[in-house]
Amino acid sequence: MHKPVTWPLVRGAEIEERAGELSQAELLELEAAYCSHGDTVHYTDPPKIFESCEGSFLYDAEGREYLDLQMWYSAVNFGYRNARLNGAARRQLDRLPQVASQYLHREKIELAAALARAAEQRFGLKGRVHFNVGGSQAVEDSLKLVRNARDGKSLMFAFEGGYHGRTLGASAITSSYRYRRPYGHFGDRAHFVQFPYHFRGPKGMSKEEYGSHCVRQFARLFESEYGGVWDPKAGRAEFAAFYVEPIQGTGGYVIPPKTFFVELKQVLDRHGILLVVDEIQMGFYRTGKLFSIEHFGVEPDIIVFGKALTNGLNPLSGIWAREELINPDVFPPGSTHSTFNANPMGTAVGLEAMKMMGEIDYEAMVMEKGAYLLRGLEDLKRRYKIVGDVDGLGLALRMEICEAHDSFTPSKAIVDRMVQEGLEGDLEVDGRPYGLVLDIGGYHKNVITLAPSLHITRHEMDLSLQLLDRVLHRVSKSEVIA
Ligand SMILES: Cc1ncc(COP(=O)(O)O)c(C=O)c1O
Repeated sequence: MHKPVTWPLVRGAEIEERAGELSQAELLELEAAYCSHGDTVHYTDPPKIFESCEGSFLYDAEGREYLDLQMWYSAVNFGYRNARLNGAARRQLDRLPQVASQYLHREKIELAAALARAAEQRFGLKGRVHFNVGGSQAVEDSLKLVRNARDGKSLMFAFEGGYHGRTLGASAITSSYRYRRPYGHFGDRAHFVQFPYHFRGPKGMSKEEYGSHCVRQFARLFESEYGGVWDPKAGRAEFAAFYVEPIQGTGGYVIPPKTFFVELKQVLDRHGILLVVDEIQMGFYRTGKLFSIEHFGVEPDIIVFGKALTNGLNPLSGIWAREELINPDVFPPGSTHSTFNANPMGTAVGLEAMKMMGEIDYEAMVMEKGAYLLRGLEDLKRRYKIVGDVDGLGLALRMEICEAHDSFTPSKAIVDRMVQEGLEGDLEVDGRPYGLVLDIGGYHKNVITLAPSLHITRHEMDLSLQLLDRVLHRVSKSEVIA
């Protein structure tokens, strides 16, 4: 039994003397007493504490190895402690780690140019880049940009199952009412539109048919003034923009048909509605493209990015927008500005990451690895009735867990057990114990959303499949699905 943390210990100097040496139990006791739980999600009981990381692995205090198949919700696309990116952070730390954002530094300018040129190459559009520090904050900035470009209109469309963050503005366009319920409304809630989630769509429709069906349902709103969104006499929509994730992230890595966004964009263009593409989770080669929207053949008006640009090191996020929306005449200095945006540490790492993405053929590498893992997941689906669906685009892969009797009824309970089993750290492969770090997503919280390191090796992919097999085996045997 550990010694309970007593008040004198916390109030006195002893806590500082022992900092770094507290046992796991003592840390958890302090966490229970002093940490807000509002800024985390305790998936397991007790919550897991990690000590170090490398490549595709996290390590706990006992040195147990956990293969990570979620990589900080896709923020660490290039592997933990990536030597090249960490090197860029160290160099910046020793040269110009901080400077007020009213002044310029070369990394900000070069990174903005790299991102804008990348967008120009891909979409043939001149644009500009605006930085901030978190995904939600960049979403907030994009909302200002959109409102500004559409005469202050504050209404947005977004998708059922979409996730755009938890700040007040971002949660207003995120479909879950759960994130808004305790706080009331601070802005206009989006109008949420059906996303073509084919596995749970109407039976008898192909994926493409279902995509077209969803677009037709949306287009119906504009057929007359009675759809509630369009004034045919003035030729104006009440809504400024449609916020989309090309592949839904938190929604469970749902991949729409290839034709979907072209069809949707036609409706938006007819009615002067901007397309805002949230690439915060799927950007930076998670799906085999710099921006996942590239798979779908449409030009975005605004792209929002974050997470993996700095491989999860110093936070940096931002937006790219078409010139006419963001040039300094329409969006002047100070329009939305904060202390840490475009910070030197983040922009230095982002710049190095962009250089790396320009040198390595991530597209070929990610598509090949993704196809290999997807074949393995399909094999697991054949062997385990609780696996209802698997799918993937690049290294964004999904495994939907269901009740065994029909391989369809969603089972959150089994997924929760899978996550817990993975974190026990006692899954055996070739006589060695491993843990497995999994993330949960999906409309019914029954999807394992798999986002391994883009640098995952063949050996680690085989290990991933073996560990998933062990976890599925354990939970399939249990009473949960009896
Ligand atoms: C698609 C998407 N948009 C926005 C966000 C919010 O980003 P952040 O958590 O950095 O605020 C996330 C985070 O998971 C996301 O996946």
